[in-house]
Amino acid sequence: MNTIIQILINCLMSMTAFYITLKAIPQVRQLFIKANLFGIDQCKQNKDKKVAESQGVVAGCVYLVVMFLFIPIPFTSSQPLGNEWLFTLEDFRHEVFAQFISALLSICCMIFLGFADDVLDLRWRTKLLLPTIATLPLLMVYGITYNNTTVIVPKPLRDLVGYSVNLGPIYYLYLAMLAVFCTNAINIVAGINGIEAGQGLVIGLSIIVYNIIEFIGSSDQWQCHLFSLHFMLPFVAVTAALLYHNWYPSQVFVGDTYCYFAGMTFAVVGILGHFSKTMLLFFIPQVFNFLFSCPQLFHFVDCPRHRLPKYDVKTDRVYASTFRLKTNETKPLGALFIAILRTLRLVEYRKVSDNDADPKNKTLVATGVVGVNDTYECSNLTIINLILVKFGPMNEKYVTIILLIIQCLCTCLAFFIRYGISRIFY
Ligand code: UD1
Ligand code: MG
Repeated sequence: MNTIIQILINCLMSMTAFYITLKAIPQVRQLFIKANLFGIDQCKQNKDKKVAESQGVVAGCVYLVVMFLFIPIPFTSSQPLGNEWLFTLEDFRHEVFAQFISALLSICCMIFLGFADDVLDLRWRTKLLLPTIATLPLLMVYGITYNNTTVIVPKPLRDLVGYSVNLGPIYYLYLAMLAVFCTNAINIVAGINGIEAGQGLVIGLSIIVYNIIEFIGSSDQWQCHLFSLHFMLPFVAVTAALLYHNWYPSQVFVGDTYCYFAGMTFAVVGILGHFSKTMLLFFIPQVFNFLFSCPQLFHFVDCPRHRLPKYDVKTDRVYASTFRLKTNETKPLGALFIAILRTLRLVEYRKVSDNDADPKNKTLVATGVVGVNDTYECSNLTIINLILVKFGPMNEKYVTIILLIIQCLCTCLAFFIRYGISRIFY
């Protein structure tokens, strides 16, 4: 079928998906609360209000239904002949079909895993392992249909290593890690109203713009960008509907289900659309947040269960949440990271108490070695807390807005790198 007609049908189906998600969420909200699937909004005065969790599952299910209904469209013949009224078998593109099915399988697995996480509160180890397994069908199909593991070397390095390098299995490892990263990266920029769905929407729209530019302009890869568009348009539609209900003050939470669903959808289009590196450029804030979080994620310093900002009832504003560290209990690497972050002024850091109850410490204090057993408070290492450290306490809504503006600016930067700087190096 004509590609433009395919896109138009996809747009129509996406609009329907938007409408259904918008209407379905208020309908099923109470069912989730009844099933004990609710959370308490930590940054609100009323701590008794139950907010339905995991509403990403509604968005995810509507998305899957729409995609299942859409499957035949790209494969339908525009001039049906005889018995082959739907598909012209000799023209049937088996490899694209396999990609479609494996992509939906991986997304479906992640929605399931996200829901399991919301219900069971899985360990971090499991959260890392399961996306890797969910990507295997995708990698298998990538291997069979495309199997390109060669990367072009940047110009300054070509004298050393040549024009291109075949990474072989290492490339597959990179693709698997990309899926793990995407699924978890959104989940750790979370905890304030609208931020998970908001970042999903901005990244989704950025990918759509990129696909349209490439679809119109590129000669050989247009099919990959059409494939990506088919997946991203309905995704953006269900995300927008979810964001409507998740925006401040949230009527529902998106849950880990949405974070994993979004992450896997991005990974799928990046891998099968053959633009995984450009896709990562749209994740600049998430990459920064991940690197910034590393000392806590890898337990060099304490990582509290929740790192979302703290709420001040009197002013109705949020401020950076903190974790505690004791001088004599902090691992050397942890202390080094915090020292670097303090020098870069990326954290707020203050002494909470002198632990001078111990007579030994009194001696040390007397001899000038002060603070050997002191307790300090340091702001949690997330981009959300960083905004609050830099701009000071503010209403939760404005934190989300600032973060989404940063995400949009990073999209502009990504396009500048992709179409400006990269041309110099490649
Ligand atoms: C991740 C973060 C954690 C953060 C949490 C917030 C890491 C390693 N983990 O954990 O630091 O606190 O997300 O989602 O970075 N909530 C709100 N307002 C919101 C959204 C969520 O108060 O707008 C609270 C609710 O109590 C909700 C809970 O966060 O029930 C959901 O947390 P969950 O998604 O289970 O946390 P994790 O993904 O494990
Ligand atoms: Mg979460």
